[in-house]
Amino acid sequence: MHLFHYFLAVLIIVQAAGQQSQSISWNSFKRRYDKQYIDAKEEQHRRIIFEDNVAKINRHNYEANLGLHTYTLKVNNFADMTHEEFLRKMVRRSKTNIATKVSKTFHRHTYLPPSNVVIPDAIDWTEKGAVLSLIETQGQCASNYAFASKGALEGQHFLKTGKLVRLSAQNIMDCSDKYGNEGCNGGTMEASYQYIKDNKGVDTEVSYPYEAMEGECRFNRTNVGATVTGFVDIPSGNETALQIALATVGPIAVSVDASHSSFIFYSEGVYNYPNCSKTELDHPFFLVGYDTLINGTFKQDYYIAKNSWGDSWGLNGYIWMSRNNNNQCDHWPPNSPDLSPLDYCIWDEFVKVINWNKVTSKTTLIQELKKAVKKIRKDVVFESCNSWTNRLYRMAQHDGDY
Ligand SMILES: *[C@@H]1O[C@H](CO)[C@@H](O)[C@H](O)[C@H]1NC(C)=O
Ligand SMILES: *[C@@H]1O[C@H](CO)[C@@H](O)[C@H](O)[C@H]1NC(C)=O
Ligand SMILES: *[C@@H]1O[C@H](CO)[C@@H](O)[C@H](O)[C@H]1NC(C)=O
Ligand SMILES: *[C@@H]1O[C@H](CO)[C@@H](O)[C@H](O)[C@H]1NC(C)=O
Repeated sequence: MHLFHYFLAVLIIVQAAGQQSQSISWNSFKRRYDKQYIDAKEEQHRRIIFEDNVAKINRHNYEANLGLHTYTLKVNNFADMTHEEFLRKMVRRSKTNIATKVSKTFHRHTYLPPSNVVIPDAIDWTEKGAVLSLIETQGQCASNYAFASKGALEGQHFLKTGKLVRLSAQNIMDCSDKYGNEGCNGGTMEASYQYIKDNKGVDTEVSYPYEAMEGECRFNRTNVGATVTGFVDIPSGNETALQIALATVGPIAVSVDASHSSFIFYSEGVYNYPNCSKTELDHPFFLVGYDTLINGTFKQDYYIAKNSWGDSWGLNGYIWMSRNNNNQCDHWPPNSPDLSPLDYCIWDEFVKVINWNKVTSKTTLIQELKKAVKKIRKDVVFESCNSWTNRLYRMAQHDGDY
């Protein structure tokens, strides 16, 4: 108990010194997102992670206030998860990347943008009725590829038939294993399209509802909502071609690097993260349009993307991603991500390694931290970890005098 009073005292000082934080308290966070933990120990563990994320978010917003960022962050449903845990459960694809290997056998076509087309300065397919107004929630399951591919397909189906039919992500997840998709462990859009094409359709969501876990394939031809006749790859790295495709074809499924906390806690503004990767593309979602933000002399192009992380995430479930900015975070299928271990925060490991039963005072905390630091891998870059870990680590190194 002493331990947590101590942590909280430090935290309060940090926040008070920071800024006018509009931060949400632990109790209101639990209420708002209906959080339940198995026991008090688990809750304390979650609370420390939460406070750490809140501190990170507040710091970013403080910097955004100073004009250092073009977007702000906010506490959302994921604030009680560590970075590593989030990536594992929501984003990260399996290491095997079977889908990428299998996809080499797919019949690929490369997008040839029409010539002599006049491309509008902005387009938003949500305003044209091609996108479900509902924001979907994949839950703790890396089925993002299924939501991204069906989202783009719903748009194509609408543009062809005038009917917006909600399609089944669960159908894709359950039935496309042999194309290399791996249920809740990730997959690709190409594998999903190839499955729907070969299967001659995908069921409607109403007939085959989402369960956030992989099950038996229960495809039923009676309930097919849409079919795929083919799919094309847009030439990689060419944002002009992507803009033409978005303007003339409709919503487009893409993969981006979504592995950073700034993405996970994105609130609003144009997401512009210079360190975003162009090769480690781990998160599929779909683009529904593009536009330009103009504020005085400041101009910033952006894509409008729809995510599958619920409506508490981002701009009511959407994100504005920087556009014509050297292909930042990339936006291209196909993809073969493998996150760098350096991107992971080691907080999880820290918490696991520390023998919390022995921690009864600041002195014993320091002793346990020292042991924990020795046990933790040396190849982890501490700078990439959260401020709490840094602080604890430095405390351990400096005998608590830090
Ligand atoms: C397929 O769906 C139809 C219509 O919902 C239903 O009547 C039929 O029983 C289903 N078939 C199977 C095998 O579940
Ligand atoms: C990008 O695509 C546009 C439209 O098809 C094309 O005119 C242009 O040459 C392409 N740029 C590169 C670098 O391939
Ligand atoms: C971007 O990466 C560089 C090199 O790894 C690092 O020094 C820098 O702090 C990073 N910037 C941000 C905003 O994360
Ligand atoms: C426009 O820029 C000004 C000055 O940088 C800033 O205070 C304001 O918040 C910006 N407005 C929007 C809508 O971003």
